[in-house]
Amino acid sequence: MDHMVFGAILAGGVGSRMHMADMPKQFLPLGDKPVIVHTLEKFLTCSRLEHIYIGVHGDWVGYMEDLIQRHVPAQSDKICVVCGGSDRNDTIFNIIHAIEDQHGQSDDHIIVTHDSVRPFVSIRMIEENIDAAMQYGAVDTVVPAVDTIVVSENGQVISEIPNRAQMYQGQTPQSFRINLLKQMYESLSADEKKVLTDACKICVVRNYPVHLVMGSVTNLKITTPGDYKIAQAMVGGHSCD
Ligand code: CTP
Repeated sequence: MDHMVFGAILAGGVGSRMHMADMPKQFLPLGDKPVIVHTLEKFLTCSRLEHIYIGVHGDWVGYMEDLIQRHVPAQSDKICVVCGGSDRNDTIFNIIHAIEDQHGQSDDHIIVTHDSVRPFVSIRMIEENIDAAMQYGAVDTVVPAVDTIVVSENGQVISEIPNRAQMYQGQTPQSFRINLLKQMYESLSADEKKVLTDACKICVVRNYPVHLVMGSVTNLKITTPGDYKIAQAMVGGHSCD
């Protein structure tokens, strides 16, 4: 069976660190459209993504479907909105189950997962994720750490200062061969699953190598009100390779 490449936009969170609005941060306005519509348009621009799944909290499914009809009606047949899960990985697996229901299983199916709140992702990053996922099976998008990273186990004194040349910050997209990710996740215990904040860590705890793709500082994640202000300034005339 031919491989298929699926986009998965993760928007199941409620944005508790934003403390500023009555809606999750992915729906806040950024220039002339909501944050998540910017992100969705980047994914729609990449024609290698045959279908795009969006995982949103159950209360916001109808709202997301309306946004699609208002902003990208011509492409709505390649977009599917599904309910998010209780944590980020749960949202990814809800999307994977919907993909399997609609398109069946194949060892070659690829999923490109991405935070809805990173609207400045570039097409180059998405393309490199697809290429590397096909070749290696698991991919993370990272930037080299510019600050020295300091480890503190108790939050009061330094425990360790790792070699900065080996330190990176993880962004998204994170991309995987779907069956590979599923097999590794299913092999974890409930306790192991709880501590995994990151999909790539599923591979790391199972000793599966995750290939690196270069991200960018402009691939900002909107987490706090300060980030939102920077993002609003960027849509004035941003560029991201
Ligand atoms: N996410 C998701 N499903 C969840 C939780 C998070 O799809 N159950 C998504 C968010 O919508 C976001 C991305 O994962 O696009 C990154 O997570 P984060 O910034 O931590 O989002 P929130 O959980 O919304 O924010 P906070 O931690 O401040 O509550």
